[in-house]
Amino acid sequence: MRIFLAPMEGLVDAPIRESLTQVGGIDRCVTEFIRVTHGLLPPRIFHKFAPELSRGSLTRQGVPVAIQLLGSDAAQMAIHGARAAELGAPQVDINFGCPAKTVNRHKGGAVLLKEPERLYEITRAVRLAVPDEIPVTAKIRLGYDDRSMGVACGEALAAAGADEIVIHARSKADGYRPPAYWEEIGKVREAVRTPVIANGDIWSVEDYWRCREVTGCDDVMIGRGLVSQPDLARQIKASLQGITLAPMAWPAVAMLVEGYGRELQCYLDDKYVTGRLKQWLNYLRRGFNEAEQVWPAARKLGDAESFYQTLMSVSPAERAA
Ligand SMILES: Cc1cc2nc3c(=O)[nH]c(=O)nc-3n(C[C@H](O)[C@H](O)[C@H](O)COP(=O)(O)O)c2cc1C
Repeated sequence: MRIFLAPMEGLVDAPIRESLTQVGGIDRCVTEFIRVTHGLLPPRIFHKFAPELSRGSLTRQGVPVAIQLLGSDAAQMAIHGARAAELGAPQVDINFGCPAKTVNRHKGGAVLLKEPERLYEITRAVRLAVPDEIPVTAKIRLGYDDRSMGVACGEALAAAGADEIVIHARSKADGYRPPAYWEEIGKVREAVRTPVIANGDIWSVEDYWRCREVTGCDDVMIGRGLVSQPDLARQIKASLQGITLAPMAWPAVAMLVEGYGRELQCYLDDKYVTGRLKQWLNYLRRGFNEAEQVWPAARKLGDAESFYQTLMSVSPAERAA
């Protein structure tokens, strides 16, 4: 089975991919979406989203990084899929799940789920433009207004030659509200021969096993769960062998976050670095009491060094509590 780190715009950038793949258990990452409109984007844009391209499209741990494209014009998407492949992308993924208003207004992202024939057209065009040996995959939700489009969209993507389909188990209208409707993923999996990857609300090892049982999918994509608990993929992989690993302790998490910040500091001002760090810390509050404890102080900080010190400032007694 495989675990994929979900694309998350504004959060899962190359440095966080480095940090999370360093912890282990992740088989593949996907970039934040690259928006395709008119005119061919220059290579530097692809490198900006995927600096890993200059290292064989692998993180330092050797985990492949797919490039995700978002757009509504089949010909433009095909040209950009071909360019991603030329630049060394090991996989081209198409985003059909983005709920953002501006994106949907321009007929990109989740709004296309209303029209499976458009999904077919775009995916077919990209598939034909990208060399056969490079997988072209698609990421969808279950529909736009409701969850009724999963099977129709899955069938359209399968007919277009998508190599894999990732399904976030919600409609666009559901936003990110729990629950995730895993049973709907199972229906798509049964309807198509194309491998289906389940996504949505896997926050723990137990969630993985329940999701697998409900969907019938071995492979999963995890976003917020991995950002909140960086060793979740490693824990899940261990559980497949009947092993329960000791959970990652706070000092190791704090060091991971610091490593992330130091990498960002190479090219961003502290103001932006602490913004990113706070974003990650906010997610960690879900998985770690320590993150909750340092949050009130850390959220006010604007310089990275103080931020790192604050992360480490949780006393052993507080940690035990
Ligand atoms: C902040 C944020 C940014 C996201 N950006 C993207 C994106 O760029 N491309 C995409 O396909 N999905 C994006 N998603 C959706 C996630 O990939 C994923 O489908 C969703 O979070 C559900 O999975 P999870 O419950 O494991 O987080 C984003 C989600 C969040 C919360």
